[in-house]
Amino acid sequence: MPKLLFIGDIVGRPGREIVAARLPKLRREMGLDFVVANAENAAAGAGITGALARSLFETGIDAITLGDHVWDQRGWEAEISQFDRVCRPANLPESCPGRDHVVLEAGGFRLAVFTVLGRQYVGLKADCPFLCADRMLERLRALADAIVVEIHAEARSEKQALGWHLDGRAAAILGTHTHVPTADAAVLPQGSAFICDVGMTGPYASVLGREVKPVVSKFLDGMPRRFEVATGDVRLSGALVTLEASGRLAERIELVTIR
Ligand SMILES: [Fe+2]
Ligand SMILES: [Fe+2]
Repeated sequence: MPKLLFIGDIVGRPGREIVAARLPKLRREMGLDFVVANAENAAAGAGITGALARSLFETGIDAITLGDHVWDQRGWEAEISQFDRVCRPANLPESCPGRDHVVLEAGGFRLAVFTVLGRQYVGLKADCPFLCADRMLERLRALADAIVVEIHAEARSEKQALGWHLDGRAAAILGTHTHVPTADAAVLPQGSAFICDVGMTGPYASVLGREVKPVVSKFLDGMPRRFEVATGDVRLSGALVTLEASGRLAERIELVTIR
């Protein structure tokens, strides 16, 4: 039965380093068939570059997804299309560069993955994630044996609602973006694995991956400051999804934390 590890938002150098240090062994020990990672914060906490995408693939990541920080690094918009295993959120305007999904293949099994951005408290212009996911599932059904949907959103209500909306039609609906893992991993009644947020891969002695002091100060006085990526208590966080025998839906989901 195919196994997928979905790694949450890789934040800066600490996030990249723990992936490089731990993923090769994890892949073997867990018998992973697919590793997908959201890397929207890989470059100093904001966006990604071509060089960083290549180095992440070298660690054993099969596909990279992105969220609202997709365009934070200048020049990436010209590079993204060179990568056939990188996708940007599917519900961005059609004129945006980059792929809207990735199809991976292992042992004859095809897994499709795509991301939709939420629209509650998320700054980027995006189409309705519900209707976009409907359209994407319809389109990808013929191209893949199983489909994983990432919901990159702030509001838990929006994430849960999408989980129920897609239950039975996707193998998994996995939340990212809040950087804080949630304790609600479950297989929904119609067979889709769901979790509100798989958590970030980066420093947890932080506020969402950034140094504590400047963030606290900004809350106190509202003055602008640089938020550097923090360094303490680095963890790799993700969801391990085991597909059921038919491969289309999920047998099990669990939150994985590597310290
Ligand atoms: Fe993020
Ligand atoms: Fe995000």
